[in-house]
Amino acid sequence: MSSDNFQSVLTETRVFPPSAEFAAAARVNAAKMAELRAAAAADFTGFWGAYAKSELSWATPFKTVLDDSKAPNYRWFHDGTLNASYNCLDRHLATKGDKIAIRYEGEKGDTRNYTYRELHAEVCKLANAIKAKGIVKGDRVVLYLPHSPEAVIAMQACARLGVIHSVVFGGFSATALRDRIEDTGAKLVITADGNQRGGNVVDLKKACDEALALGCPSVEGVIVAKRTGHAITMKDGRDAWWHEATAKLPADCEPVNVEAEHPLFLLYTSGSTGKPKGIQHCTGGYLLGAMLSAQWVFDLKEDDLFWCTADVGWVTGHSYVTYGPLANGASVMIYEGVPTVPDAGRFWKICQDHGVTIFYTAPTAIRALMKSGEEIPNQYDLSELRLLGSVGEPINPEAWMWYHRVIGKEKLPIVDTWWQTETGSIMMSPLPGATPTKPGSCTQPLPGLFADVVDEMGEPVVGKTAGGYLVLTKPWPSMLRTIWGDNERYKKTYYGQFPVRPDGTHLYVAGDSTHRDEDGYYWILGRTDDVLNVSGHRLGTMEVESALVSHPRVAEAAVVGRPHEVKGEAVCAFVICKGVRPTGDEALALIKELREHVAKEIGPIAKPDDIRLADGLPKTRSGKIMRRLLRSIAKGEEITQDVSTLENPGIVAQLAGKA
Ligand code: WT7
Repeated sequence: MSSDNFQSVLTETRVFPPSAEFAAAARVNAAKMAELRAAAAADFTGFWGAYAKSELSWATPFKTVLDDSKAPNYRWFHDGTLNASYNCLDRHLATKGDKIAIRYEGEKGDTRNYTYRELHAEVCKLANAIKAKGIVKGDRVVLYLPHSPEAVIAMQACARLGVIHSVVFGGFSATALRDRIEDTGAKLVITADGNQRGGNVVDLKKACDEALALGCPSVEGVIVAKRTGHAITMKDGRDAWWHEATAKLPADCEPVNVEAEHPLFLLYTSGSTGKPKGIQHCTGGYLLGAMLSAQWVFDLKEDDLFWCTADVGWVTGHSYVTYGPLANGASVMIYEGVPTVPDAGRFWKICQDHGVTIFYTAPTAIRALMKSGEEIPNQYDLSELRLLGSVGEPINPEAWMWYHRVIGKEKLPIVDTWWQTETGSIMMSPLPGATPTKPGSCTQPLPGLFADVVDEMGEPVVGKTAGGYLVLTKPWPSMLRTIWGDNERYKKTYYGQFPVRPDGTHLYVAGDSTHRDEDGYYWILGRTDDVLNVSGHRLGTMEVESALVSHPRVAEAAVVGRPHEVKGEAVCAFVICKGVRPTGDEALALIKELREHVAKEIGPIAKPDDIRLADGLPKTRSGKIMRRLLRSIAKGEEITQDVSTLENPGIVAQLAGKA
């Protein structure tokens, strides 16, 4: 993937400056952006301290902006206290209680709206129900919910009590849910009977029951939202319906003020090992990052309807469905279904029917919708749209241009936002009223953030253009605080790759390779570790490998990615069977079984696209799997490199299907 990308990076020369009209009305124009950058460069902590004061409502004002005495375990605003839910809801009630907070549409076309006052009431009721279960500040609650208002309400209800939520994407399997519940030690799970997706009912409660049957001794209770109404089993003494548990409770609940560093949520993401890591985000710094980036990057204004299509199960849904927009008192759109039901016009119909003004989605969705042709979007009135966004993976210039021409009518700015689960909020992006854009580049760090390109030794790559590892050179308020229960892994993974610089700088390693052009614009090329990006979702190759190896017929497996037109990357697995390698129909049946097995272990998103059964893997004499070679084979490339030094050179022809 990186070499293809690198070519397009080198040949892309188009530049699209912001329109004068957009710039004139924007929250940040070019002059303001320059002013912000200069202010942050001159007084880094003063810059962030001033925003933390002006944007957030504190119960106890902070005195210290940044404590770096235990770097890379940074603390921001640590002597201040606040409540995230108060900042997202209560403080808007006096001025915008009747403003729409959430506009919702389900896959079947059912709609619901919540004003800020209504959302506040629902959040308080659920918070009271959680409290009634004896859950207190610092306890963990796992949310396994559809992408619906209930998910936002549940997150806010936890935040209101200082309870740490961990959302598990509804597409993850019972096994994956069990692993996450056990790692968090959650006492309570909030789920739904099911949800409506892709024309089917997804049986969330059944998966939750399976997960709890597999282990999870910490779980004392389950709250179940009624969504589909299909028959489910409720376990006496453990399970309670959401509507029953909240029915008689007051619509008011005092927010619990917490220290700024108190964890707001844990969110699991893949790394280079088989075990997903619980990324720990805090309350104050995280909220500031999500709130301010939403203002700057999406130019959020009072009458906008902001639609971020990401599921709440991912960090994008945390920062740009729940926390960022609500802290700004904005109106958000939530759509629960898939983009292709009933047809590929669904996103555009929602934009038209609800009057969406800002639309933020992933390149994989753009590429998929692009395939169905421009006649479809052209049937809808998209005239309310004023800004488009992209996130999750590099957007190829062809998809960028289609987005620009067909959806943006060659007028709307596009913000290509680079960030990660770990960064909490957008790190690099154009500001739509200030930054000239180039298709495929996320342009530059936002004001107050600092990036660089370094070589294998961690030395800055100097020169007119630069290529290498992407690092962040200063801490930032919304950064992850640690990996839940494993601070050593935190330090090693993110700060351990390069030595601390003589001036005391700790380099945060993003795990991405990048190119910086002569204008200082960044072009993300792809991951440098064993992490795949499938449809904008991160998947560890090791995770898929361990899922495969847990099948009784599998002796060994190696997983690599290959470029995929719509998904960005496809998952390719090379599998060595125990005993005799099956062939013909027997092989096909096993491959099918293995794909299902991975879906059961992780979730359907991890199902390998290709599985090849073989007698061995290409290994060096020291036993290391030659992944580069496997990647070439997966791509169908001619193998030109010398394989004679391999322990088993003959295997290459077999893997490539030539023997
Ligand atoms: C990885 C982070 C942040 C929300 C979604 C993904 C890739 C993300 C971009 C972009 C190029 C991007 C990177 C990054 N990525 N946004 N605009 N351009 N690459 O979050 O699952 O934590 O994955 O996604 O490789 O490291 P995530």
